[in-house]
Amino acid sequence: MHPRRLLIGGNWKMNGDLAGGVELAEAVVAAFDPLNESVDAVLFPPFPYLQAIGRVLGHSGIRLGAQDCSSEANGAFTGDVSAEMLVDLGVSQVIIGHSERRHIHKESDALTCEKLHMALESGLQVMLCVGETGEERTAGQATAVVQRQLRGALNGLKADKLASITVAYEPVWAIGTGKSATPKDAAEAHDAIRADLEHLYDRPSSAAVRILYGGSVNAANAPSLFAHLEIEGALVGGASLKSADFASILGSAATAFKGRRG
Ligand code: PGA
Repeated sequence: MHPRRLLIGGNWKMNGDLAGGVELAEAVVAAFDPLNESVDAVLFPPFPYLQAIGRVLGHSGIRLGAQDCSSEANGAFTGDVSAEMLVDLGVSQVIIGHSERRHIHKESDALTCEKLHMALESGLQVMLCVGETGEERTAGQATAVVQRQLRGALNGLKADKLASITVAYEPVWAIGTGKSATPKDAAEAHDAIRADLEHLYDRPSSAAVRILYGGSVNAANAPSLFAHLEIEGALVGGASLKSADFASILGSAATAFKGRRG
């Protein structure tokens, strides 16, 4: 397969303030500029800062993302944000099924699926997160859990929509813990996800899906993760809040792409 650019996402979660976010985005734009031919990037700031960060990203080539969206189109859903509202603000991608939504907010596979369909219908690209907990891994259920989440979220999705989906494999035990999956374990999980996509759809349509790794990715471990072809980028939380670290991860992704191209 022709190698494609790696995608690096910065998930800021519920961190920072407006001025700090603008400053961070400006630094990321500067770091991305010389790399824009060799890496794809998207930032996921908190909702209230989307418009301001979108202005900073401008025509830099870095896309604007949101951390979640409602499964409903509009109406009496206090506190929720619709996919259409995100589109209105210039957002092009949305995270769906992040483990913090699944576990803290008890979002089910069924709700994740509804959100995914709503996002796609609104014209957004989806960053679908899947991943097992530490307990599930210890119990030998990691592959089964990821498969259940993947199938649950993609239920009813036609093959021609796969080009709008990115999957982020994010083992819950690795998120925010400083304990990343080993590159080999991550690559194996990615292989299993790829095989499942091919089983659910067909090889050419599932080839459109990039599979990223997330969970304690940092400047130091990014190169060894990206050494595996199965790992087509990263969804970065903590390290995306530090411009130098995020810039270094972008650089590693660009280097890995050049290496893959040969
Ligand atoms: P982390 O978060 O990089 O801080 O582990 C990743 C994520 O939750 O997307």
